Amino acid sequence: MPPTSTDRTGSTDLPIQVSPPQLTLSGARPLVVDGVDGLEVVALPVVPGEGDGAALVLGPGADEVGEQLGLDLLGLLDSERATGKAGEVVTLPVPQGAPGRSALRRVLLVGVGEQRPADFRKAGAALGRAVKDVTTVATTVPALDPDTALEPFVVGLVLGSFGFSWRAAPPEHVPAGRVVLAALDPGAYDAALRRAVALAGAGWRARTLATVPSNLKNPAWLAEQARAIADDAGLGFRVWDEQQLAAEGFGGILGVGQASATPPRLVQLEYAPRRAGRRTPTVVLVGKGITFDTGGLSIKPAEAMSNMKRDMTGGAVVLATMAALAEVGCPVRVVGLVPMAENAVSGNSLRPGDVVRHWGGRTSEITNTDAEGRVVMADALAYAVSELEPAVVVDVATLTGAMKVALGQQVGGFFANRETLSAAIAAAGEASGEPLWRMPLHAAYEEKIASKVADADNGAGGPGAITAALFLQHFVGDVPWAHLDVASVGDAPADRDEWTAGPTGFGARALLTWLGGDAPLDGIG
Ligand code: BES
Ligand code: MN
Ligand code: ZN
Repeated sequence: MPPTSTDRTGSTDLPIQVSPPQLTLSGARPLVVDGVDGLEVVALPVVPGEGDGAALVLGPGADEVGEQLGLDLLGLLDSERATGKAGEVVTLPVPQGAPGRSALRRVLLVGVGEQRPADFRKAGAALGRAVKDVTTVATTVPALDPDTALEPFVVGLVLGSFGFSWRAAPPEHVPAGRVVLAALDPGAYDAALRRAVALAGAGWRARTLATVPSNLKNPAWLAEQARAIADDAGLGFRVWDEQQLAAEGFGGILGVGQASATPPRLVQLEYAPRRAGRRTPTVVLVGKGITFDTGGLSIKPAEAMSNMKRDMTGGAVVLATMAALAEVGCPVRVVGLVPMAENAVSGNSLRPGDVVRHWGGRTSEITNTDAEGRVVMADALAYAVSELEPAVVVDVATLTGAMKVALGQQVGGFFANRETLSAAIAAAGEASGEPLWRMPLHAAYEEKIASKVADADNGAGGPGAITAALFLQHFVGDVPWAHLDVASVGDAPADRDEWTAGPTGFGARALLTWLGGDAPLDGIG
């Protein structure tokens, strides 16, 4: 993470955080991977046998490992009653090491279940957890079926190892230092590994940003993070401070941010593919960047407020996605917009009944100051559609508690005004392990967002996720648009597969899977 500011509460910069495991490829078998001193753990895949009671099958490298160590691996699995289900890990201690491998201490047998991508993601996450604090690991799990396994396995391994710490002492556990994917020809799989690492890294970055506490993470700080990301990734960058926002009429962002001691920002990042021409279309991504959501004067109860440092998850997802577009070979132009504000309480708060004027002139009556996300998103959407000539707009926001009620905490919701775009988003979500369920932009509920004094009421009642989406829809006109409401999945209640308890960074993998495809905009118009 780049340098940060010091705020008035006396907290200092973010300490250096743990790094994800470093991944490399080796064509060699696991016990003889080149150039790896001090190999401590070898992890081998276990496949359930076909049919009831059938014997387990071990994957590549197992014969040799068993022979070298003088172990009957299948016998050991049997005595442990292993099933080979995805994510099962059986540990065999090897206190004496192996011939020529004196540092080796453990062999891990990792179940891969039915060998679907989701099974390999689970297996990777389980291995990532099992090898924390280990310096060097070699594994043949992805060698079992590299075309299916490599990406989800790597994503699971990296994200299952995620950690964040702001303790005085060093973190209790750190991710594995290095994981060698053995029995895989580097020439053939280097590109796939780079892509997998980019997806995982985007999830990691989004989680880190969402986890940073809000006494550090104010709008100016987040805007500086965005600048550092843009510099690193070679992206165009622009930031609006509060004066510039006022001068250009971003009344929604300013209104929501006006009670905070730390004023709002808007950032814009720009990616162009290497072979971009004048006709290369543009996708605009808009991410909600509420750095803390108290609810404002329509204040949240304490319990509902406790996780609201991560109300900028959509913004973090957009920033993390922008950072990784080049690595996944995104073929279209992408502009990322993140409106950033703290929804605070003060004598200068927005009041229920206030009217704000959004960029472009549309007005909203603020009947509920806790419905702030749509108010800042509206400005950015209006600006995008009018100024950036987008072929498609996709926004990502932790927008409504109603989405969490509707879908629980394992699937995100989305809306789309085109079938083709909807299909692309749903497919990318499914493929990437970030499932997204489509909800209806049901026009009859428009009457719920009507206001007596302004163009719309920001605080319409239920169905809350739908009325929020209908509110936003007025700002995109007829441009192909999808709205991802990730309030349901922004936070994981507990460790589960590649999710770690706390912020999930949900959305970055889905967006990169979509935008890193060969022709992400094909048929969408
Ligand atoms: N940031 C919240 C939505 C949220 C809720 C995110 C739970 C994650 C978990 C949003 O700004 C909000 O407060 N929405 C209100 C809207 C209502 C006042 C119309 C909500 O969902 O209650
Ligand atoms: Mn709110
Ligand atoms: Zn919010």
